[in-house]
Amino acid sequence: MGSSFHKRGMLRSESLLKYIMETSAYPREHEQLQALRQASAEKLGSMSVMNVPVDEGIFMSMLLKIMNAKRTLEIGVFSGYSLLATALALPDDGQVIGIDPDKEAYEVGLPFIRKAGVEHKIDFIHADALSVLDNMVKNGQAGCFDLWMRTRKATNTTTRGCGS
Ligand SMILES: C[S@@+](CC[C@H](N)C(=O)[O-])C[C@H]1O[C@@H](n2cnc3c(N)ncnc32)[C@H](O)[C@@H]1O
Repeated sequence: MGSSFHKRGMLRSESLLKYIMETSAYPREHEQLQALRQASAEKLGSMSVMNVPVDEGIFMSMLLKIMNAKRTLEIGVFSGYSLLATALALPDDGQVIGIDPDKEAYEVGLPFIRKAGVEHKIDFIHADALSVLDNMVKNGQAGCFDLWMRTRKATNTTTRGCGS
C-alpha cells in the first residue's frame, strides 16, 4: 500500500510494522476510509501523506471509544481522513468540529464522508483556526471538548482552554 508507509507511523521496526499493517491495520480499515485514502493519493498526489497513517487512525478510533468521547475538535482537516475516522468512532449524537482554510482538499474526502453516513456528526469550518478559536473563547465555548487534535502542519495555532 505505498512504499512510504514504513517511514511513517508509530512503529519503527520495518518488518514488524509491515506484518501489523498487513494482518491487522489494513483489514480493519473502514471501506470509506480506504476509498478516501485512495482518492487523496490520486487527486492530491504527494500531499496525501498529510493524512494520518492507517494504524494511527485505528489508534485514534480506539482512544475515542475508550474515553466515550462525544465532542471533539480537529485543527487541520486536509482531505478528512482523521476527521472521518473520528466521526466513525463517535456515537450517533457526537460531534467533531473540523477547521481548515483549505476547502478544496476537504472536498476530495467529502463524498466518502457522505457514503459512510456520518456527515451529520461533522461541522466543517472553512477558516483559519486562529480566528475561530478566538471566537470560541470569547463566546464561552472553551473547555467543552473531550479531545482535540492539532496536526503539525496546522501552523500558528494554539488551543486554549479546551481539550484533554
Ligand atoms: C497534516 S494536514 C491534516 C491532516 C488530517 N488531520 C488527517 O490526518 O487526515 C494539515 C492541515 O492543516 C491545515 N492548516 C494549516 N494551517 C492552519 C490553520 N492556521 N488553521 C487551520 N488549519 C490549518 C492545512 O491546510 C492542512 O490541510
